[in-house]
Amino acid sequence: MIFKTFQLTLLTGALTMSAMVAAQHAFNDAEKAVEYRQKAFSVMQNNFAYMGDMLKGDMPFDAEIFKERADTVAQMSSVPWVGFRQEGAMPGNNTDALPAIWDNWEDFQERAEQLQRDTYRLAQVAVAGNQNELRAAFKETAQNCKGCHDQYKD
Ligand code: HEC
Repeated sequence: MIFKTFQLTLLTGALTMSAMVAAQHAFNDAEKAVEYRQKAFSVMQNNFAYMGDMLKGDMPFDAEIFKERADTVAQMSSVPWVGFRQEGAMPGNNTDALPAIWDNWEDFQERAEQLQRDTYRLAQVAVAGNQNELRAAFKETAQNCKGCHDQYKD
């Protein structure tokens, strides 16, 4: 009985290990990793621009839709980064990512984390739906997008 439990524990351990290994190698090749992060940014951009249009008055402001968009951006804000960890997913591989990213990895990661904090804050502010507060939180997030692009995107 004790032996069986032990075996089961080993098996569970082995399964957990292989799941972790699979997660580390999320992509078959560098091209897939580039495509993955670009698509994630693209979804983020679609939702972000929509919120911008509402705040500018190019589109009627709808608090519920705004909140939905803000939630999606917040969720997406953690997605692209794993695509930068794949070996070879660097300049020359159909990417606008600059080599400076890998020379300044800590700064890049800090900006990525800041984006996640900014977008979660924007989603929180969207609960109350006050447009002045939203405008400020939106601007802060947008500055983060631009700041990183200026440094690290062609
Ligand atoms: C920490 C750095 C960083 C932050 C923050 C960041 N980006 Fe980017 N973004 C990049 C890099 C690097 C690329 C180039 C990716 C590539 O081509 O491999 C990129 C590419 C893009 C692209 C082009 C995707 C494509 O199809 O090629 C869009 C759109 C984009 N980002 C939107 C945004 C928006 C919107 C935000 C903010 C809400 C944002 N990004 C925040 C680094 C960042």
